[in-house]
Amino acid sequence: MGEWKRPEYLIRLVLVVVLALFGLTRLPPKSVPSSGDLQLPGVEGEKLVALTFDDGPRPGTTDCLLDGLAQRGVKATFFLVGTQISYAPELVERMVREGHQIGVHTLEHTAVAGLSREEFAHQVEGTRRWLCQLVGERELWLRPPYGIVDEHTAQWADSPIVLWSVDPEDWRDTDTRRITQHLLTHTGDGDIILLHDIYPSSVDSALAAVDGLRERGFRFVTVEQLLERRGIVPQNGQIYRQAG
Ligand code: NI
Repeated sequence: MGEWKRPEYLIRLVLVVVLALFGLTRLPPKSVPSSGDLQLPGVEGEKLVALTFDDGPRPGTTDCLLDGLAQRGVKATFFLVGTQISYAPELVERMVREGHQIGVHTLEHTAVAGLSREEFAHQVEGTRRWLCQLVGERELWLRPPYGIVDEHTAQWADSPIVLWSVDPEDWRDTDTRRITQHLLTHTGDGDIILLHDIYPSSVDSALAAVDGLRERGFRFVTVEQLLERRGIVPQNGQIYRQAG
């Protein structure tokens, strides 16, 4: 009796399966989970900038900078020199506690271009191990001293490589006015600013520029947050100068 129904049942089953599969392929793509801890509300047309500080930490200047950044609720990125860490491990811990990004600037402020694999590991991976022991396992991006890289740097970096797009050459003099003016004049959306937290004049200039640029609608984020906000997925060995 029910024999004639069997093919129809099968056809219906096949149809249901086909429709289900078709429906599955048309589902919207899964949203990519956010890797960072960026908690800023999204603003259309927002102007973002990343302050970066090299060569520290240095007691007496880095602490003043951290105080000034904390007062303003500003996050920055610090590329640390290994030998400097032993002078002020508490400053590194404070950077992490206060939400700044930290990275490596080699053990002894050594140009990485031309180094052997072993020397590179000593300068970069050695500093990373030291920092991870101090503040826990984390990604530590590389800023090569002097911004000089060679074909091996990308190969061996084992992290994104961060250069910069605004450089007031703050090491050249202690002219706070000049450095501040340079920052106010040259900074645009998506820029990465290079400064050094080992000079009092750089700290004063950085904080003055933060105040001036905030009045013009800029918001300060870490390099990691800057890339994330611009939809750039950081790649190991890739050089980042800005995220406009
Ligand atoms: Ni440096």
